Amino acid sequence: MAYTDKMLRDGALEGKNIVVTGGGSGLGRSMTKYFLELGAKVAITSRNLEKLQNTAKELEEETGGTCLPLQCDVRHYDQVEAMKEQVISEFGSVDVLLNNAAGNFISPTERLSANAFDTIIDIVLKGTKNCTLSFGKHWIDTNYKKTTVLNIVTTYAWTGSAYVVPSATAKAGVLAMTRSLAVEWAKYGMRFNAIAPGPFPTKGAWDRLLPGDLKEKLDITKQVPLARVGDHQELANLAAYLVSDFSAYMNGEVVTIDGGEWLKGAGEFNMLEQIPEKMWDMLEASIRSKNKK
Ligand code: HXC
Ligand code: NAP
Repeated sequence: MAYTDKMLRDGALEGKNIVVTGGGSGLGRSMTKYFLELGAKVAITSRNLEKLQNTAKELEEETGGTCLPLQCDVRHYDQVEAMKEQVISEFGSVDVLLNNAAGNFISPTERLSANAFDTIIDIVLKGTKNCTLSFGKHWIDTNYKKTTVLNIVTTYAWTGSAYVVPSATAKAGVLAMTRSLAVEWAKYGMRFNAIAPGPFPTKGAWDRLLPGDLKEKLDITKQVPLARVGDHQELANLAAYLVSDFSAYMNGEVVTIDGGEWLKGAGEFNMLEQIPEKMWDMLEASIRSKNKK
């Protein structure tokens, strides 16, 4: 067995209807593919309908599942409501909402216009709020239980990060929403969890976070103790578990899957890794010599 293998048993998501925002590309597409393989029906939504239609067709051919492409800009509540009505009229009900859509780019914060900052907050935080409120109210009104919301955040939701400040601000809000509603809406049969991925190569993220020759200059694997980037299947395995009934007792959790990246960045003395093995004899002797005095 390898981390690139599929983890859950066949049929693990049979009977589940899932909405994946931003499901036409990147990690959303990979999670959608695995959900379909496990027997779920999946609606994928984003701004670009043609991209969604192509993805849905490809995934239906590859998996034999049912994938419904629906245009919806998560920044607009009326579009989210319309998307919800369309999914319900096609599938009958929705069991899982996966808030995965995002916008992001690197920039010194002082170079950002007010609109640039708002754009990221609107997609990530307001978009997640719009979808969560729309589906949450629907589940409450119809007394529909055993539902799950899974939010994709990132590790700088709690550490913060320079040069991606709107994204860090918005993801922190999404994490607070996850934990808050895990308590408040549990009584309505809803679970709320989050995944904080480290670096997983996607075109959307790499074009905006590692533009030009930054990819070559900043070897991202050097930031990761496990010395590699993530594989889409290992993220899909975790997401499938968190939206399945196997995780029925998990609520309010954020699961980090980053090869140890954020802890390496956080530890004050982590840079001592650069000290060659043979130098430790000299350093130890120096410290011990001071102890005797
Ligand atoms: C400064 C910029 C800019 C840049 C856009 N703007 N790009 N400002 N530097 N590089 C400004 C624009 O000038 C404008 O402000 C405002 O932002 C909105 O830009 P638009 O192009 O009109 O917005 P829109 O078409 O809605 O596109 C949104 C977007 C774009 C976020 C700017 O990148 C996008 O569509 N992204 C979606 C996919 C994505 O970002 N995927 C990566 C997710 S990765 P003004 O003032 O001029 O009107 C991720 C990883 C997290 O989240 C963790 C990694 C470890
Ligand atoms: P991606 O392919 O660019 O995915 C982002 C998706 O969001 C796109 O499909 C995009 O589709 C959609 N989207 C953007 N704005 C939208 C809007 N206003 N309304 C609806 N949909 C919108 O990038 P990704 O790397 O797979 O990112 C997926 C998630 O993982 C994001 O939440 C991201 O923050 C998170 N993440 C990624 C990494 C990583 O290393 N890749 C690390 C940590 C966290 P349209 O353009 O068609 O709208």
